[in-house]
Amino acid sequence: MANGLGKPFVPVPVTANELNTSKSQAVFKSAQELMPGGVSSPVRAFRSVGGQPIVFDRVKGPYAWDVDGNRFIDYVGSWGPAICGHAHPEVITALHETLEKGTSFGAPCELENQLAEMVIEAVPSVEMVRFVNSGTEACMAVLRLMRAFTGRDKVIKFEGCYHGHADMFLVKAGSGVATLGLPDSPGVPRSTTANTLTAPYNDLEAVKELFAENPDAISGVILEPVVGNAGFITPEPGFLEGLRELTKENGALLVFDEVMTGFRIAYGGAQARFGVTPDLTTLGKVIGGGLPVGAYGGKAEIMSMVAPAGPMYQAGTLSGNPLAMTAGIKTLELLRQEGTYDRLSATTQRLMEGILQAAKEAGVPITGSSISAMFGFYLCEGPVRNFEEAKSTDVEAFGKLHRAMLERGVYLAPSAFEAGFTSLAHSEADIDATLQAFRESFASLK
Ligand SMILES: Cc1ncc(COP(=O)(O)O)c(C=O)c1O
Repeated sequence: MANGLGKPFVPVPVTANELNTSKSQAVFKSAQELMPGGVSSPVRAFRSVGGQPIVFDRVKGPYAWDVDGNRFIDYVGSWGPAICGHAHPEVITALHETLEKGTSFGAPCELENQLAEMVIEAVPSVEMVRFVNSGTEACMAVLRLMRAFTGRDKVIKFEGCYHGHADMFLVKAGSGVATLGLPDSPGVPRSTTANTLTAPYNDLEAVKELFAENPDAISGVILEPVVGNAGFITPEPGFLEGLRELTKENGALLVFDEVMTGFRIAYGGAQARFGVTPDLTTLGKVIGGGLPVGAYGGKAEIMSMVAPAGPMYQAGTLSGNPLAMTAGIKTLELLRQEGTYDRLSATTQRLMEGILQAAKEAGVPITGSSISAMFGFYLCEGPVRNFEEAKSTDVEAFGKLHRAMLERGVYLAPSAFEAGFTSLAHSEADIDATLQAFRESFASLK
């Protein structure tokens, strides 16, 4: 099967070995003296799975190579952007061409129009879009916009959903906050989070109660339409539809944070897949094709509040820079080709079914699922419908599994509370090798 690299795939046998990570360890030792925890983002430090992190040297297609020369089949994909495979040749070629023209203009550039048109065409809720540099920035700005548009200060978020690290979202957040078990971060003023109300995911009654207790005070509801920052939790039938109704009834906005799910769950994101259109949407990861990008968009009436069209201020030195726009445009061009999402779904489904089967054969409790190019599992009996239930997963066993998989050449997210990502570059042979590694690793847990 083609692996998206333009070359025939040559399978490399994956066998258990004593992983030599001496260079990784040396680099990470220095890193810890230079940067807090030795990393630029917390989950990378492997604290929740134990052991030392692997220091990457290069990535290509479905693979990552570390500084010791070990090769891993990668299911992190730079935490989501690498949906076409790492360093896709067409993305790299396009980037080279743009690079010749410069790296940042700080002025309008036609590439912004091109990517904006593609996003608007694809994502049902988006009539106008503003580009920023990260998902955090997109979520921070969208919250300001929710407040500016409604004239209300409060927001409802869900336990285990992560919307970046802005102050008002660091309440019962997922991702690294969940991974590290931080309650709320010090440095976040109580006055800021006082306006953040939380409810359990998939619990419409709790949201109803919050609206009843806070009449005319809630600007809106923000959520990951499929949760990828507390493992992998899907919306129960009627949940997204119910939120759409409730927000409408209460004069509040519905915001889908599709930083992770955008162009991954479907080309038009989770909103296209589930047929529920929010008022505003945040994006990131895939639309930057591996370069730093975020975006927020929605109804023109609401987006017209954003400066300079309107009074809500938000700006960015590097926003809409030509390199990030180029990588995004090329990535979306690859994704909108016929059959892309069928291929992604087939790959991921085969992987997920194989993982569940391997765990069962080894007598390891498991529940898990996948949609399109996103998957996740918990080492416990299911179902998992919210963050509280997700916490039943056996974190210690996951740490052992993670290590066993690394030793067999498979790189999983170093946390029991992060979704996994597949790409167009993952071939059938990669999935076969991964499942063999899972069978051996699950067996080794006994
Ligand atoms: C749903 C969601 N929102 C926001 C963010 C924050 O994005 P970034 O890490 O680019 O700041 C993330 C990051 O993982 C995310 O998954």
